[in-house]
Amino acid sequence: MSEQRVLTGITTSGSPHLGNYVGAIRPAVRASREPGVQSFYFLADYHALIKVGEPARIQRSTLEIAATWLAAGLDPDKVIFYRQSDIPEIPELTWFLTCLTGKGLLNRAHAYKAQVDKNLSSGHEADAEVTAGLFMYPVLMAADILMFKAHRVPVGRDQIQHIEMARDMAASFNHLYGPLLVLPEAAVEASVATLPGLDGRKMSKSYDNTMALFAPRELLRKQVAGLITDSRAPGEPKATEGSALFEIYQAFASEAQTQAMREAFAHGIAWGEAKDLLFECIDAEIAPMRASYEDLMAHPERIEAILQAGARKARELATPFMAQLRSSVGLRSLHQPATQPVKAAPKAALPQVKQYKDTDGLFYVKLIDGQGRLALQSLGLDHPRDAAPLVTALHDGDAQALQLHADLLAPLATDLQDALKDALAMLRLQKTTKISK
Ligand code: TRP
Repeated sequence: MSEQRVLTGITTSGSPHLGNYVGAIRPAVRASREPGVQSFYFLADYHALIKVGEPARIQRSTLEIAATWLAAGLDPDKVIFYRQSDIPEIPELTWFLTCLTGKGLLNRAHAYKAQVDKNLSSGHEADAEVTAGLFMYPVLMAADILMFKAHRVPVGRDQIQHIEMARDMAASFNHLYGPLLVLPEAAVEASVATLPGLDGRKMSKSYDNTMALFAPRELLRKQVAGLITDSRAPGEPKATEGSALFEIYQAFASEAQTQAMREAFAHGIAWGEAKDLLFECIDAEIAPMRASYEDLMAHPERIEAILQAGARKARELATPFMAQLRSSVGLRSLHQPATQPVKAAPKAALPQVKQYKDTDGLFYVKLIDGQGRLALQSLGLDHPRDAAPLVTALHDGDAQALQLHADLLAPLATDLQDALKDALAMLRLQKTTKISK
């Protein structure tokens, strides 16, 4: 798989609302259609257990969220769509990562720290109400990501730290056991809107200001009618700035519709009329999905079958990879020789800088890549000290210094600038794995 792997999880602890749709579901479904991308979407039900102790709610939420994503157009034949708890390799990898994650790193996780701060400021014990599950949240999340070698993880701002932690864990693992894990990057989409809720604050379950995504049409109309507006009378010009109604409209309307609504605001459209337009506009986008959502909800066995098929695809990747990971940490058959190929790989994969005196009596420097191929080669130099700046630049992975001394390099079959770029990338990679310890 040479394509970009994009992975994201959705905690199954509630019902999807319109804000989730605009902020996460719609952009993710669009992104999953990009060519050259292998997307992984999963229902993070192990994560849900951290917050929710009601079995029926976990099950209900899993069903609703799965139906929502499918109704919103996620194509389970194109993406890998699965339930976290169907992949036993994830908790196994969680344990491997647990064993190399500093407790201090987890102490600094925002979600845990916020709970501790709250406890202390209300006069409670620091860890009151904190389960080990909450504390370990970032490790489970790292296992989700690293299991499938994801390059990119689209998340909200609040999750960036978790992705950084996953990188740290991957680097620690690679340092100890060889370069098996991919270092992921957070992808925070600046263009994605956060939708305001009924009271104008960000739409969020914790503010109790949400609009249900697949409410029946008449309920949606009622919810829109309940949107808070100011008290300007019909005929009075209205401000689009700071208007929740306008913002939500914009999230669903075309450019032209938005422009027309802007003008209607300036001309004093009545709030009731604006709400009718908003309702019709949301409903136009949601109605076809609502039909498919209701159909799916009436057939949970279909969703179950889709998730099982997704789990099979996911495990086709996870099972052999986990076997490799188990072996690399030393959990392996006793009659297998200790020289596992995966264990041998890391040493061989490190680039090397070599200095030597050749039969012509001149001194040379060369850079050998992880596969033993010649990456850069110097001209013959009279004295070892002539080679010193080149050696230092290579050891430091210093791009500027390397450019400065490029005249000491011999021409290669490939373009020298390309070779320099490759060499630096390779040296930088080596550094990343080094600083992790
Ligand atoms: N923690 C994420 C959230 O609450 C959900 C999640 C779990 C996740 N595992 C993940 C997101 C892995 C991205 C990648 O939003």
